[in-house]
Amino acid sequence: TRPKTIFSGIQPTGVPHLGNYLGALRQWAKLQDTAEADTTLLYSLVDLHAITIRQNPKQLRQWKKESLAMLLAIGLDPKRSVIFHQSAVPAHAELMWILSCQASTGYLGRMTQWKDKTANEKDGSEKLKLGLFSYPVLQAADILVHRATHVPVGHDQAQHLEFARQIANGFNETYGRHVLTPPETLVSPAKRIMSLTEPDKKMSKSHSNPKSRILLTDPDDVIRSKIKSAVTDSYEGITYEPERRPGVSNLLDIFYHSGEAVETSSQDELAKHMQGLSLRALKEEVAMAVTNVIRPIRERYESLVHDQAALDAVAEKGAQKAVRSAAATMVEVKSAVGL
Ligand code: ADP
Ligand code: NA
Repeated sequence: TRPKTIFSGIQPTGVPHLGNYLGALRQWAKLQDTAEADTTLLYSLVDLHAITIRQNPKQLRQWKKESLAMLLAIGLDPKRSVIFHQSAVPAHAELMWILSCQASTGYLGRMTQWKDKTANEKDGSEKLKLGLFSYPVLQAADILVHRATHVPVGHDQAQHLEFARQIANGFNETYGRHVLTPPETLVSPAKRIMSLTEPDKKMSKSHSNPKSRILLTDPDDVIRSKIKSAVTDSYEGITYEPERRPGVSNLLDIFYHSGEAVETSSQDELAKHMQGLSLRALKEEVAMAVTNVIRPIRERYESLVHDQAALDAVAEKGAQKAVRSAAATMVEVKSAVGL
């Protein structure tokens, strides 16, 4: 069988939070550490995706640097994984255009993420940008330009992966040869981590309340205070009931996924185990587990983020490798299309 190629991306739009880590980044590092020797791994800071929302240029540049330091801090090794800024590899945007000539606007319009955005848009189409609409086409290009066979993503991204598969198959059918590789989805084993202040929403970089998320740069005392003030409920005891008790269940999810015993237990079992505790004591346990997960990441990050020369060197090397990986695909794509 053909060697595997793993690709995934994250937007450099701020310090990643605990949800990004438990839902995605931790799996990236794990895949790297357990991959067979002939597996290629590519991890991208998708800055072209970031500008689908208007960004402050100075801030974006700073975030790109910080996000790169964070990918190293969570355990990605630039000798093993290709780590790069998306905009440093123009073939992503070039393939996107070619795929745009293949993509159905009807299909794109039915994507949940677009429908959510348009539902909130009261002024009609004036303010809605084309880039946001065609976001999934760029995402498909990101994956297909590197012939990724496996794409680790959170549950929220499964629909976009299906789109990438369809566009790859559609392209191959149109041009009568196998040029693009439909990728397989590796859905994260971790559940969605929810906001600490509004546990019916997912923990997100874009949420305005800073207490809603735990950052991978938060000091221990900040983590403890955020968890201490997490919204729970006034029901008796500790039970795992995501519908009825979203706050408490989210704490159990965080504890479960932060702990060592992920493989051997379930959140239900965990809740039974913690039954006798007060909510306050539960929060203390959760805070302990989370500080233990984040502390080493934060410490590595702090030692990396100020070394501009080292970060530039990593970005440069990564870009060179990613440019080569993408070029091989573009030769075949252009040949198929007649360009
Ligand atoms: P955000 O939604 O915070 O802006 P991104 O869109 O950059 O984060 O997502 C990066 C990765 O992190 C994706 O694979 C996504 O599925 C995952 N992710 C984001 N938020 C969460 C969450 N609350 N719980 C679990 N995984 C998440
Ligand atoms: Na997201």
